[in-house]
Amino acid sequence: MVKRGYEMASNKRYGIIFLFCLQEYDLMKNYSKPKHFISQHHSQPPIPKGFVTPEKTREHAVMLANRIRKRFRHLSRKFKREGIDCFRLYDWDIKEVRAVVDWYAGHIVVAEYIRLQTGPEYLPHIARAAAEALNIPLRNIHLRRRQTKTQDGPRYKKLASKGKRFQVRERDLYFWVNLDDFLDTGLFSDHRDTRMIVRQMSKGKDFLNLFSYTGSFTCAAAAGGACSTVTVDRSEMYTQWAKDNLSLNGLSGPQHHFVQSDAGKFLEQISRQGKRFALALVDPPSFFQDKQENKAFDINRDHPALIRDVLKVMARGGVLLFSTNHQRFEPQLEGLPVKDLTELTPDTIPEDYRNRQVHRCWRMTVI
Ligand SMILES: C[S@@+](CC[C@H](N)C(=O)[O-])C[C@H]1O[C@@H](n2cnc3c(N)ncnc32)[C@H](O)[C@@H]1O
Repeated sequence: MVKRGYEMASNKRYGIIFLFCLQEYDLMKNYSKPKHFISQHHSQPPIPKGFVTPEKTREHAVMLANRIRKRFRHLSRKFKREGIDCFRLYDWDIKEVRAVVDWYAGHIVVAEYIRLQTGPEYLPHIARAAAEALNIPLRNIHLRRRQTKTQDGPRYKKLASKGKRFQVRERDLYFWVNLDDFLDTGLFSDHRDTRMIVRQMSKGKDFLNLFSYTGSFTCAAAAGGACSTVTVDRSEMYTQWAKDNLSLNGLSGPQHHFVQSDAGKFLEQISRQGKRFALALVDPPSFFQDKQENKAFDINRDHPALIRDVLKVMARGGVLLFSTNHQRFEPQLEGLPVKDLTELTPDTIPEDYRNRQVHRCWRMTVI
C-alpha cells in the first residue's frame, strides 16, 4: 500500500489521470497513523511538489474535525427541526483540505478531490478524524475520490456492488440512498430547496422530469398535487430507483409514467404525439455520449438547442426550470421563445452549501 501510494502520487510524468479504485474499507480497518508513504528510493520518480506529508495530513485531519464538529452542532439542530436527514457538513471550507463531507442520517460520505499531492492514506485518515468528531462508528464512513474536472466517464457507473440502500427523510418525503455503489448517492441535497419550488408549483400540472435520475423531483411534484408526471432517464436502474422512491412515499399511481429513454428521442416522440407539459424540470449531465448514434452532448455547447426542444413539448404559459451543476457553465439563454427568464440560483442553494454555485438554476415561462 505504501508503495502503491507513492507510485500513484508520482504518475504525473505519464500524464495519467486516476480515478482511484474504492477498495478503501480494508485500508480504513487497518489504518492507524499515517505511515511514511513517501519512499526515497533512488530509482523512483520525484515526489510531486507540495506533497502532503504525514505530518500535514494529521494537521488537515485536526482542522477538518474541528470545523465539522462546529458545523454539525449548528446544522443538525436546524435540520432536525425541519425533518431533514441529509446535509452538507463540510464544503472544501479550508483551502488545504480539498474535500466535501455529507451527512446521511448518521453516516458520512467523505469525498476528496483527487490530486497527485496526497497518497492513498490521506482520505481514510481525514475521514476517520471526521467520524471521531461526530461520534459515529467507522463502518458508517463512505469514501469517494472525485475529480475536479467534470467529464463523461465513470460518473454514473457502478463502483461497488454492496447493494445496501436505506431510507432518508427530507421534510415529509423519503428517498432511497446507496452510499457505496456509485459516485452519487441517489439524492442531491443541493436541490432540496429546488424540490420545494417544484412542489409549490406543481398543483394540477402535467409535469415533465427530464434526466430524472432517481426521481426526487417527481416525488416533489406528485406530493405537490401534479395531475400527471412523466419521468425520463436513459438508465434502467435509475428509472427503477425513481419508481421505488415514488412508491416509498405512497405516491404511485397510473398518472405517473416512467420512460427509460434518451432525452432527445423522447422529446422527438412526444413532440409528434402532441402531448404538452405545464411544468418541466430539466437537469442534464454536463456531458454525455450516445454511442449508438455517435453523438455527444456538451452542456455549454448544446443547452440552447436542448431547451428549444423542451419548449416544443410545453404548453403556452408553462414553466420550465433548467438546472446544471457544471462549474464552468456559460449560459446562452437570450433569444429563447420565453418570458420572465429569471436565475433562481441564490434561492435554490441551501445554507449548508458554501459553494453558492454548486448548481445554477433558471425559471422561464413559455410564450
Ligand atoms: C444530473 S443527473 C440528474 C439529477 C436529478 N435531476 C436529481 O436532482 O435527482 C443526470 C441524469 O441524466 C441521465 N442521463 C444521461 N444521459 C441521458 C440521456 N441521453 N437521456 C436521458 N437521460 C440521461 C443519467 O442517467 C442521470 O440519471
